[in-house]
Amino acid sequence: MEEWEALQARCMGCTRCELAATRTNLVFGVGNPHAEVLFIGEGPGEQEDLRGEPFVGRSGKLLDQYLAAIDLDRKKNIYIANMVKCRPPGNRDPKPEEQEECMVWLKEQVRLMRPKIIVCLGRIAAQRILRTDFKVTQEHGRFAEHNGIWRMGTYHPAMLLRDPRKKEAALQDFLALRAKLNELSAHSPP
Ligand code: URA
Repeated sequence: MEEWEALQARCMGCTRCELAATRTNLVFGVGNPHAEVLFIGEGPGEQEDLRGEPFVGRSGKLLDQYLAAIDLDRKKNIYIANMVKCRPPGNRDPKPEEQEECMVWLKEQVRLMRPKIIVCLGRIAAQRILRTDFKVTQEHGRFAEHNGIWRMGTYHPAMLLRDPRKKEAALQDFLALRAKLNELSAHSPP
């Protein structure tokens, strides 16, 4: 996809916010831009900043396990991006203005990818993409359609590492995602 590569090339030199000054690598995303599902996390951590790929640390390993449970694979049939593409120093929350600047790139990714489903991983993405008062603990796993895209929020894998009691609920959300994908492909023309 030429347009995707052109977007990535433009994005790699981004200096729209102060995070540009402290990053090692900008983390554009990973996966297949033709995929039906887009996952959106929060922002790169230390490992991601060093490697230039999202979710490669402990959270990423756990995310890969949930993906594998429903036959999804970051290299093949999904795309993973973050609310902000550069690491917030010390892993602080990305500031609203940083998210706002970075949204320009994410919007372009969504426009080119045209995913059928967007999954927000954790509060930061869910409150920016779904609803400002979205409560992950109460509303995780529920799908709602918006402009032709089905959207859902679930726990951030880092939260599951901190509180393993939430892992079963997260698994149910991933199973619901599998069911939604199956339902959508059953309805789409061959
Ligand atoms: N947490 C995130 O939200 N994104 C990453 O890429 C890594 C950890």
